[in-house]
Amino acid sequence: MKVTVIGTGYVGLVSGTCLAEVGNEVLCLDVDPAKIRILEEGGIPIFEPGLQDMVRRNVAAGRLCFTTDVEKAAKYGAIQFIAVGTPPDEDGSADMQYVTAAARNIGRHMSDYKVIVNKSTVPVGTADAVKAAVNEELVKRGVSVPFSVVSNPEFLKEGAAIEDFMKPDRIVVGCESEQAAHIMRTLYAPFQRNHDRLILMDIRSAELTKYAANSMLATRISFMNELANLAEKLGADIEHVRKGIGSDPRIGYDFLYAGAGYGGSCFPKDVKALIKTAATDAGIDLKVLNAVKAANDAQKHVLGAKVKAHFGANLEGRHFALWGLAFKANTDDMREATSCEVIKDLLEAGATVTAYDPVAMAEARHHFPDEKRLGYAENQIGALENADALIIVTEWKEFRSPNFDSIKAKLKSPIIFDGRNLFEPVELKGMGITYFGIGR
Ligand SMILES: NC(=O)c1ccc[n+]([C@@H]2O[C@H](COP(=O)([O-])OP(=O)(O)OC[C@H]3O[C@@H](n4cnc5c(N)ncnc54)[C@H](O)[C@@H]3O)[C@@H](O)[C@H]2O)c1
Repeated sequence: MKVTVIGTGYVGLVSGTCLAEVGNEVLCLDVDPAKIRILEEGGIPIFEPGLQDMVRRNVAAGRLCFTTDVEKAAKYGAIQFIAVGTPPDEDGSADMQYVTAAARNIGRHMSDYKVIVNKSTVPVGTADAVKAAVNEELVKRGVSVPFSVVSNPEFLKEGAAIEDFMKPDRIVVGCESEQAAHIMRTLYAPFQRNHDRLILMDIRSAELTKYAANSMLATRISFMNELANLAEKLGADIEHVRKGIGSDPRIGYDFLYAGAGYGGSCFPKDVKALIKTAATDAGIDLKVLNAVKAANDAQKHVLGAKVKAHFGANLEGRHFALWGLAFKANTDDMREATSCEVIKDLLEAGATVTAYDPVAMAEARHHFPDEKRLGYAENQIGALENADALIIVTEWKEFRSPNFDSIKAKLKSPIIFDGRNLFEPVELKGMGITYFGIGR
């Protein structure tokens, strides 16, 4: 099949590449010429394990191409995936300008039947808006070209995006045309050979499913974070509690870790957008989700508060090592990352920071341009030089079993603030390290 992917970011590039991997001919469009240039030169503009090799392989096979040419892209694919960003607007709602622009571009140039697929996370009702935008452009041109709009939200996780796309738990397709449903089934057949995982539903339900999924996961995290804060006060250990409840199959172990708050490009914005949609479009105050958001906003400051509780509110003259900038392991994405809040809390209190992250340091420089009090180290041990304590924010694998002797030798005093509960408090105490976890 011939597929156009509009928006070549985390979702667009992974989706386009995986669709090419199973034999489709894919053209990825982006408005950012710098991104397309990197791809054309054999690089990739994001960090995602395994993606670079897969991109190269499919480019070499002639199945994957990149362009900034809107007309060419609109004419190319019988299937047009919209995978552009939907960042939060000032009021928390999803900013739909990129989705609308993508839809209009299709309408301006299409000349035969298209299945237009919303893969971006979009509020309920967006398929109708996309349909209207395409129709307006067709009317302007004085032509009538048939098309169907489909909602196909994406559930991939950064860091495991290829695995998620190639072996999906489910493929949600919201559709009101049999022809489009058949095309979507055919397109996804190679990804579900051992059993059917495609869940066909109406478009509005598919749109809401994506927000419901992210909101549920965010709810579990905020719930555990609140319980962790309570466990600390009551002298309990949240890690024991986690195991105790996760063993109940009705609860399960996933997304049950207490930590320093969720971040990333999806949970914070999707929770906000659902709260906003509910309030403005339906007059409903989503009390649970409002609490999830408030709990998470507060949790991002727990590490900073622990540091200040130990060293005093004024951190003038103090220096800290910080391991982990990305919002989670295996990505360079720092959108709404907890590290940003921790760094700001420390700098505002007068401290200086040396950070280390295996892949996100270039990204961090965009978030903190010209910040002289924030430095970067070449490796994790190097970050410890002259630091009063180590603060761990991201659960990178290489942080899980560090050389504690080196940590003790490098730090001014052996103190670790661990925002991801990577270590056992008793063991660290035995090594003479003062250890602060979350909820322990
Ligand atoms: N990142 C994730 O893990 C993830 C997972 C599931 C769903 N989503 C959703 O998928 C969507 C895309 O997310 P992302 O993280 O890939 O975003 P991104 O910011 O990485 O990529 C979006 C790309 O779209 C491009 N773009 C914007 N307008 C365009 C236009 N009119 N034509 C062509 N290209 C255009 C941008 O230049 C950018 O490269 C969002 O709605 C997001 O919520 C993201």
